[in-house]
Amino acid sequence: MEHVIGQGSFGIVVSAYKKEGLAAGTYFAVKVTDKRVLADKSYKASNLLWAERNVLAQLDHPSVGRMLATFQTQSNIFMAFDLYSGGSLFYHVHRRTAPEIANSDRLAVGLHGLSDEAVRFYGAEVVAGLSYMHQRGIMHRDIKTENIVLDWQGHAKIIDFGCSKDLRDNIDASHERDFRRAHTLCGTLEQLSPELLSAVARGAAYGKSSDWWALGIMLFEMSTATMPFTLDRSERDPGANEHQLREQLPLSKSQDVSSLFSSDLAELISALLVEDQTKRAGSQRRGSERVKSYAFFAPINFDRLQSRVPPFVPVVTAGQCPYVGKKYKAMDVNECVHEQKYPPKGRKSKATDPLSKIFDGFDFVNPDMEFLDPNAMEIAGDANARTGVGGGGATTATTSSSSAAGGGSKTRSGLGSSPDTVDQVEGWFGTWDIMKVACAN
Ligand SMILES: Nc1ncnc2c1ncn2[C@@H]1O[C@H](COP(=O)(O)OP(=O)(O)O)[C@@H](O)[C@H]1O
Ligand SMILES: [Mg+2]
Repeated sequence: MEHVIGQGSFGIVVSAYKKEGLAAGTYFAVKVTDKRVLADKSYKASNLLWAERNVLAQLDHPSVGRMLATFQTQSNIFMAFDLYSGGSLFYHVHRRTAPEIANSDRLAVGLHGLSDEAVRFYGAEVVAGLSYMHQRGIMHRDIKTENIVLDWQGHAKIIDFGCSKDLRDNIDASHERDFRRAHTLCGTLEQLSPELLSAVARGAAYGKSSDWWALGIMLFEMSTATMPFTLDRSERDPGANEHQLREQLPLSKSQDVSSLFSSDLAELISALLVEDQTKRAGSQRRGSERVKSYAFFAPINFDRLQSRVPPFVPVVTAGQCPYVGKKYKAMDVNECVHEQKYPPKGRKSKATDPLSKIFDGFDFVNPDMEFLDPNAMEIAGDANARTGVGGGGATTATTSSSSAAGGGSKTRSGLGSSPDTVDQVEGWFGTWDIMKVACAN
């Protein structure tokens, strides 16, 4: 465990170095969730973790963050991903916008926001990822700048599938209920599509078009560093439910987007932020192809996105994540992750503890783990004669991280590499023995 790099609904995300065994020498991002936090929630928060694990175990696309392993101890659930050290789009839009991607007109008057070129590049990579997952019946449901991170080369990856839904699953009513209850936790009000908000309030139907709404919000936000629909906390009626709050938000109708954006971008944003989901861009059959065909994306070849030179190349060294907020830099991993005997006092044995059952079968190892090259960044870095590039980053030297070595023969089934006993992994902290135990097979 190295540094805290992010925080989410149920836990923290840290950078971690795997010392031994499979993929030794590689840095990962590891999302750590304390099982007791899950137990304390009134709804089944564990369902959201399961959704993330199950969905990501099936996805393999250059625009989708790659999950490499999941494992657990008595107290915690760990989900290991490629470490995307280039920071989130939220950071680049609102915190420190690099000059090469800044919107120069806005910068000149001291405002944040990305150039059309950058919005087009990141937008296109997200569209490619959405198109891929929608074809497979997966909705993300939490597309926002915090959930898009850059890899060390500057390519965008969609992460955080904790709200995602596999539409091919039999409708699992309990998961749906949990999702709705959890939504203020996993999404933010300003990003929810109108139909999703009414679904939260009234149980109405919604579909993949909610992701296209969220894309519209994100394009707006990337370009202007503001949200199209906002409501100051002080303006909120504390008694209002989410649906009532939504009705208080200024509607897109009242926003004149044409004055805020170049005409092509305004056209796309207006087409995505259409309140009636049946008329929204992307909602039709083969909707993603329609989104790709907007004039704003005309310069983009969607089949060759990964060979496009990113507009901003992060400057990173091995395992370092310089593009995270000060708050995280100041956090001490040891204070954030607790490995304690579970069940706590008062509960007799593991067998009687409901949580130990809930995560039965959760462990997963991505076959790509075998093909990770810890030196990929170093090699590519040397070849590109870039400065400040060290080893680390679990991506390979090829342009497409997800189509790494291994060809088409890999399968995505869980390998069932559960630690033998919980005791065996105690004392793992800081040593990564847990990884060795969990991944050795
Ligand atoms: N693979 C990753 N590489 C780099 N940073 C990450 C990675 N995964 C998550 N993060 C950071 O951690 C934050 C929280 O992770 P996320 O998966 O979104 O959790 P949550 O579901 O709790 O929101 C993200 O916004 C991002 O900044
Ligand atoms: Mg998130």
